[in-house]
Amino acid sequence: MASVLTIRGGVPLTGKVSVRGAKNLVPKAMVASLLGNEPSVLRNVPEIKDVDVVTSLLRLHGVNVGKDPVTGDLTLDPSHVKTAQMKDIDAHAGDSRIPILFCGPLIHSIGEAFIPDLGGCRIGDRPIDFHLDVLRQFGAVVDKHPGGISISAPKGLKGAKLSLPYPSVGATEQVLLTAVRAEGITELSGAAIEPEIMDLIAVLQKMGAIISVQTDRVIRIEGVEQLGGFNHRALPDRNEAASWASAALVTGGDIYVEGARQADLTAFLNTFRKIGGAFDIDDDGIRFRHTGGKLSPLVLETDVHPGFMTDWQQPLVVALTQASGVSIVHETVYENRFGFTQALIRMGASIQVHRECLGSIPCRFGQRNFLHSAVISGPTQLRGTDIDIPDLRGGFSHLIAALAATGTSRVTGLELINRGYERFQSKLESLGADFDIA
Ligand code: EPU
Repeated sequence: MASVLTIRGGVPLTGKVSVRGAKNLVPKAMVASLLGNEPSVLRNVPEIKDVDVVTSLLRLHGVNVGKDPVTGDLTLDPSHVKTAQMKDIDAHAGDSRIPILFCGPLIHSIGEAFIPDLGGCRIGDRPIDFHLDVLRQFGAVVDKHPGGISISAPKGLKGAKLSLPYPSVGATEQVLLTAVRAEGITELSGAAIEPEIMDLIAVLQKMGAIISVQTDRVIRIEGVEQLGGFNHRALPDRNEAASWASAALVTGGDIYVEGARQADLTAFLNTFRKIGGAFDIDDDGIRFRHTGGKLSPLVLETDVHPGFMTDWQQPLVVALTQASGVSIVHETVYENRFGFTQALIRMGASIQVHRECLGSIPCRFGQRNFLHSAVISGPTQLRGTDIDIPDLRGGFSHLIAALAATGTSRVTGLELINRGYERFQSKLESLGADFDIA
């Protein structure tokens, strides 16, 4: 039976949590290991669902994945890569979005790939047209059928001049993972340049790839015939760090996030300061705290890096329900990332969502009838309620709203939180949250 978390709100979260490797890098570095001809070692690996899914998919394809029982470090040995049974791969249908990134590496190593139906959070349509377009331009032949996609490259994968219509993180990774062993030179314009992408480039460079990041979102890759292994410590999860920072603000608390890195959080830290939060940075992490004063409202637009990241938006909106005045948030990355506000409204928040673009960043959703801007008036006292978690970041937002609310909340759908927040229950416990789980 699904677990129910019963939260008794009103306790400021105080103490220390650690963040490990980024959810949005670690599974991709694991996929990169397929491209090598010797074992790789990945360190700082969190215990989250995407890591389990990718471990299982790699094993199905003959990669020997070992885990150090003490450190959790992974050893990934691709010496015996093989074709997997479609039915075994299909058992992972709907589990994750990462399988789409297996295309290039599998074609390079065994000549073909079968990709099951993808999963991931329901925060928009999340199409894969950019992925398939770039793969076709490398020379891949894509066969979509019920249950998945089969893909091969009878004439090999060749470098190409590519341009993305939007700086998609996943499509940029698709290009990197395919181009590094494609024949010739690939030039990608309109690339995403998130820190997780830079870390994937670091992994590939350790393997022997030749990649240069140029100005104006251009990445140039010189294909090589063979790649070796890597030994890499994954960059820390900046999205988890920002989530705990918002939790400190929402609950009136004080949280030291060990592992948080200033350089990856510049845009978040600016916003955190403008809203009235305080932070202290040292070599090992960042302490985030509520100063006890009033929080200030904000006008905020999400954007691709180096802008304010979409994954930070949902937890921060909860903090804005506690700011004195009217805040405006324009979501420009996903068309449908405000569904989580329904539960906040039931808890007493004053939030209106709008179809218009309430901001100045050019956005793909204004003319298309999506509720992608929010007006939040505060401060409002939140009251506990029953919540079924809709997605990873929205779910974390609901948790911190329940932790700040008066009264009791019963929260279900916790498995979605486990997708991106390692051991979140023990972290909540160590921060003094009042809850039990049944
Ligand atoms: N898009 C397309 N076509 C495509 C690919 C993307 O239209 O083929 C659109 C998407 O629908 C979206 C926009 O482009 O509107 C950006 O999507 P992107 O491809 O950048 O996102 P992603 O690679 O699927 C990763 C993270 C997300 C994070 C985004 C943006 C992983 C596993 N996921 O998704 O993380 O929000 O980049 O930074 O890396 C999360 O952690 O909660 C999360 C959703």
